[in-house]
This record gives sequence, structure tokens and C-alpha cells, in this order.
Amino acid sequence: MNTELVKNVHWVGYVDWPVRDFHGYQTKRGSSYNAYLVKGEAKIAVIDTVKAPYVEYLKRNVAAHCGLDAVDYIVCNHAEPDHSGGLPAMVAACPNAMVVCNAKCQDALSHHYDVTGWKWQIVKEGETIDLGGRTLKFFDTVMCHWPESMVTYLEEEALLFSMDIFGQHYATYCRFDDEANLEEVMQEAKTYYANIVLLYQKPVEAAAKKLLGLKLKMVAPSHGVIWRSHFDKILNAYLAWHVSKPTRKVVVLYSTMWQSTQKMAEAVVQGANESNVEVKLFDLKATGDTEVITELMDCAAFAVGTPTLNQSLMPRMAACLTYIRGLKPAGKKAFAFGSYGWASKGAQEAEGYLKAFGCEITTPPIICRYSPDEATLEACREAGRALAKIALEVEA
Ligand code: FEO
Repeated sequence: MNTELVKNVHWVGYVDWPVRDFHGYQTKRGSSYNAYLVKGEAKIAVIDTVKAPYVEYLKRNVAAHCGLDAVDYIVCNHAEPDHSGGLPAMVAACPNAMVVCNAKCQDALSHHYDVTGWKWQIVKEGETIDLGGRTLKFFDTVMCHWPESMVTYLEEEALLFSMDIFGQHYATYCRFDDEANLEEVMQEAKTYYANIVLLYQKPVEAAAKKLLGLKLKMVAPSHGVIWRSHFDKILNAYLAWHVSKPTRKVVVLYSTMWQSTQKMAEAVVQGANESNVEVKLFDLKATGDTEVITELMDCAAFAVGTPTLNQSLMPRMAACLTYIRGLKPAGKKAFAFGSYGWASKGAQEAEGYLKAFGCEITTPPIICRYSPDEATLEACREAGRALAKIALEVEA
């Protein structure tokens, strides 16, 4: 496996092939925790660490290039434990290393770990560290992904260690974009954006404005492959995702008890399918939230169906809508539907979630008692046609 980014700069992280859950994010293709080693003529820096259980791999990877006692700096760009979990063990193993981070990160780390005895070098926006012929420059990237997030730029190589930005939860033996399956990489980058970045679009935009002024030959995120040949592709995708640019796509999500709401969902799809737009139907029993939000991010309009259960909506639908509400996909149009027995609450509550994240409601909840009759199914088809009309208005 080629781990050399440029001469004397190496990937030293860990590829987590089996991980399938990342704080609720379903990582169906695993992940990686990218750490890097930068050797200057005088000093050596490790950029970030890995999840705590895998720190021995990090140590071994570093030791393949230099003694651990030769490490002068361990840069911590971000305190989230997928990147800082290995830091206490690395500090213990590298007796001559200073921890380099910003003040907010020092505070966060001191609330995560026992930092007694750690040596610190606190850096501010734009400050540099000279490694001897190589310069590390630091930029704050607040809320990309946490308040303390920053990135590190290796000036002489025009190489940006971009932390979570431009990452993918994607396990591969390839370290670079031009070695990996680019279609899979882009799919995972999109999933990552929808599930991690979507809520922080404004901070990412602010960071991008700052960072894109730099000369960039290579961009090395903290998850997934390193961008050295196709950075334009991920950058253009970020620009489209950033505005949640809709495509001609309609999405229908549903939970069902006795197939009544399912029949309604299928009628919505039937109506939408009369137009030449992409239509996708998801039963939440078989579809995780990670996939749902990825599909919603670039749809033009969607519908959610849930029956009433115990005077509320179905718990699986509530969980999914809670997840979507947290990520706040912008500019969507939608409606709710569903069956009930004796007290109609489910579809109305689902509509409340839609309103809570700013959806424009296309039609009041379509409801039916027990089982949909033909008039109800036609109302669903008509609502589906209206969603397709919205999708057709999107520039192809
Ligand atoms: Fe990959 Fe926000 O940590």
C-alpha cells in the first residue's frame, strides 16, 4: 500500500474495515482515521491520531519512519475522539512531543482526557511552526465540525490536512482518489456530507472561502481517500450540495402496520411516476436514516407516511424525522399521509416535524380510517403528481 503523499510525508492512520456504526451513522463501507507524519529537516510532526483502540497501529506506522522519541509535535486539529482518542497514548509514547492545537481544542481535550503533564503549543489562526524547510500553518475552521476544529496547511507542498472537510467514511486499501473506485468514493462523500456536514453548511462555506485562496496540490482529509487528482470533482460536488441543489427527484418514505399506509405510499409513487422524474420509495423498516437523509438532500420534494400508533406516529418514523430535523435539509417541499383507526394523530404529527425543519407543505395531511378507499388513493396519486410537478420545475 502506497502511503507516501510526497517525500517524507506519510499516511500513518488506521483503516477500520468492519465499523458499521459511527454515532448512529451507518458506515456500510467502513471508515478510516487518517493520521499523517511530516518530516522536516529539523523537526517531525504527527498530524492527528486515531480512535483509541487503534493507537498501537498508529505507533507502529510512525515507528516505520522514525523513533517515537523523535516526534517533536503532535498536532490535534479536532478533539472528537475518532481523531483524538489515541492522543493520550501517543503523548505517553512520544516523550519529546508537544501537543499543538488551538485554545478551544486544549479546553476540549482537557475535558476528555487527563492531560496532566502534557506539553502544549497553543496556536492561533495563521500561525506557523517551522519544521526545517517545511512550514505548518494553522487555520481555524470553527464548526467544521466542532467549535475547536482547525486545519493544517503544509505550505511548501501546497498540501492541506483538511480534517473532516472533504472526508468519506470509506475503507479501502487505496490511499488516493486516483487509485480508488471514484464512483464509490463520491457516493460515500455525498453520504458523509448529508450526515455530517449538512447542518454546518454556513461554517463550511466560510472555511472554504478562506482555504480555497490557498494554493492546493493535495487535500488530505481525516477520513477516506486523499484528493490529489480529482479535487475539482469533490469541490464542485460540495458547491452543489452546499445549496442542497435539488435534482428532478421525488422521495416517498413510509412506515406501515397493516399495509394501509404502504398502499397510500405506493399511490403517491404511482402519481409521481406519471411524469418523467426520478421517484424513490423507502420502507423505513428496511432503510436506515443515513440513507434517507442522503436521498433527501438532493430531492426536490418528498412525502412521509405513517399510521397512528398509540396516539402518535410510528416510532421508527419519529426517529427518522428527528434525525432529519437535526440536519435541517433546506428548501424542501413535502406533505404527510397515513392511516388511523379511531384517533388520527400520526400524519398530523409527522407534518409537525416537516414544519419544524422549514419544509413548505404542499398539501394538508392525507388520512384514511383503517384502509384507503379509491378516493383516498386518488388523493395520494394527485399529491404525488404535485410533487413530480415541483421536481419538473428543477433545471435539468
Ligand atoms: Fe471525524 Fe468530527 O470527527
